[in-house]
Parts: sequence; C-alpha cells; structure tokens
Amino acid sequence: MSRKFEGDQILVATHNAGKLQEITEILAPFGVKVVGAAEMNLPEPEETEDTFVGNARIKAHAAAQATGLPALSDDSGITIDALDGAPGVYTADWAETGNGRDFMMAMTRANDEITAKGPDAPRSAQFRCTLVLAWPDGHDEVFEGVMAGDLVWPIRGEAGFGYDPMFMPEGYDVTCAQMDKAEKNRISHRGRAVSAFIKGCFSG
Ligand code: IMP
Repeated sequence: MSRKFEGDQILVATHNAGKLQEITEILAPFGVKVVGAAEMNLPEPEETEDTFVGNARIKAHAAAQATGLPALSDDSGITIDALDGAPGVYTADWAETGNGRDFMMAMTRANDEITAKGPDAPRSAQFRCTLVLAWPDGHDEVFEGVMAGDLVWPIRGEAGFGYDPMFMPEGYDVTCAQMDKAEKNRISHRGRAVSAFIKGCFSG
C-alpha cells in the first residue's frame, strides 16, 4: 500500500513548463496547490541514471531535501521500436543545441533514423512517464504510464510540446499537437501515471 499524501501543497520538481502545466491541470480537481521548481529557485539536478525511474528519483529526492516538502518529479520520453527503444532517457538530449532545445531538430532526427532503417521499418513508438513522489524523510513511491502510437511525417498541429506534433496515439487520426489538452491528458502517459499517483496517494 502506498504512503498517502497529506497536506495542501505539492512541489512539482520540474523546470519543464509543458510538464508542469499538464500536471497542474490533472491535479486541479484535488484541491492541492502545485508549486513548480523554478518558482522555488531550485537548481536542475543532473540526470545521471540510464532509466526513467532512476532519473525521476534523483529529481524528486533533490527537491524534497531542498525544500522540506513532498516533491513529485516526472521523467519521461519516447521509445521508438525501429530504433531499439532510442532515444528513451535521452529524448530531451536529442533536442539540445547548446543554445536551448530545438524539437523540430529532434523530430527530424527521429524521422530520419526510422527512414534509414528502410521502407518496412515500423513507425510505432511509446511515450513513457515515470512519476516519483519523494518525502523529505527519504521515502518514495513510483508510478508509471505509457501511451502507444505511431510517428507521422510531416508533423501536424501546434498544441502541446516536445514530440507531440509527430505522435499519433493508437486509435486516433490526429497527433497529440492537434488534440485539446483535456483529451491528451485523458489518454497520455502522464495522465495515466498521474491517475495511478492519485489512486495510490490520495484515496482510500
Ligand atoms: P526529461 O524527462 O526532462 O528528461 O525529458 C523528457 C523529454 O521527453 C522531453 O524532451 C519532452 O519534450 C519529451 N516528452 C515527454 N513527455 C512528452 C509529451 O507529453 N509530449 C511530447 N514530448 C514529451
């Protein structure tokens, strides 16, 4: 049984505005005030692990220790079947330019690498999200969510963030960047991980 979250304020240990906005929207009905890491002037710890859960643990524990508040972190990314699961934990790195992140560059790389595998290469991919809630005493709880889909080219849509414009969830004929936010949150890897977190830490 998961440890319950008690209190009215949760620190979301991310500097990513897109993630923070989605988590804030999903938690809105639970009456918890969400505070972002940037608002608390927290440094961004280095993500030195090679798993989503390892990196999520680093971010959540660093924030809980620094603030004395329970801290929720998100480590997420995309795994592409034709590329043996790449970029995975390196999803953000594919967008790094040395002068900010360029997701058009990252999506172009993903498309180019799949195309280089030949015409029969699968276009299937998964968005994955691991959430870790860490308490200042060192305890943590882990929650995961996955959304399966296909990578389309050219990209479509302007909403969302990151790789959303090339990701078409299974059963849809629009990309995540063509969906309204509530619909994406309902089916997304992050929405599913947050639902598991709510079920584990808020109810019963
Ligand atoms: P990290 O968890 O900060 O290491 O980075 C996760 C990477 O995956 C970022 O580059 C995000 O843009 C990308 N990513 C995670 N979730 C989503 C999503 O819901 N839509 C689009 N891109 C995402």
